Amino acid sequence: MNQNELKAAAAAAAVQYLAQHLPADAILGMGTGSTINLVIDALAPLKDRIRAAVSSSEASTQRLAAQGIAVLDLNDLPMGTELPIYIDGADEINPRFHMIKGGGGALTREKIVASAARTFVCVCDASKEVDTLGAFPLPVEVIPLAREHLARRLAADLGARVQWRTDFVTDNGNHILDLHGLAITEPVALEEALNHYPGLVTNGLFARRGADVLISAHADGVRLRNKTATSA
Ligand code: 5RP
Repeated sequence: MNQNELKAAAAAAAVQYLAQHLPADAILGMGTGSTINLVIDALAPLKDRIRAAVSSSEASTQRLAAQGIAVLDLNDLPMGTELPIYIDGADEINPRFHMIKGGGGALTREKIVASAARTFVCVCDASKEVDTLGAFPLPVEVIPLAREHLARRLAADLGARVQWRTDFVTDNGNHILDLHGLAITEPVALEEALNHYPGLVTNGLFARRGADVLISAHADGVRLRNKTATSA
């Protein structure tokens, strides 16, 4: 199976997972990316169960709307309502279910919506599973004014090769720097350290709040794992 076929298998398994675990009349947190697009496109049988979605990007919002699924702004979530599930892809995920995300540039809204959910379900193909994060360049969203200053600081402080994603502006009007050449052995510590740079809005490490469930498609079938069973 090629990568697209694996993504399709993972997405189909993710929809099955939602059919089993999503409470009736739920508000679903929705990620961004090509795998999640496949999940959204397969949501039709569950439409009656989903009161609305909270989306992590304009792209996912449009796709959800095309499926006839109402999209709520996180600010408009009724008081006391929680998102039972946030579902999203990843660029890399390690055995402790820490992730690099943001390959599609939606990391800030993804991190916000994920933080409002009880369970984070990561859905991906097997190529995203790694022992050590960092072969995929770590995206950071920055305020445009701070871009060059941060690029120099991050290169000096982390020894990263920093590349500005020149052809891209985030849904929040910001820029993305991709940090190449990192071997991230302490993802929580690096996520926290990056949170302290003025002008750096969000970094693509999802380690402090990683995934709770991993649905990943391998050549020999789809594997569903819970964090408690696999994390160190
Ligand atoms: C977008 C993301 C995506 O989840 C990540 O890039 C994976 O995307 P895909 O499913 O297309 O491989 O973080 O910001």
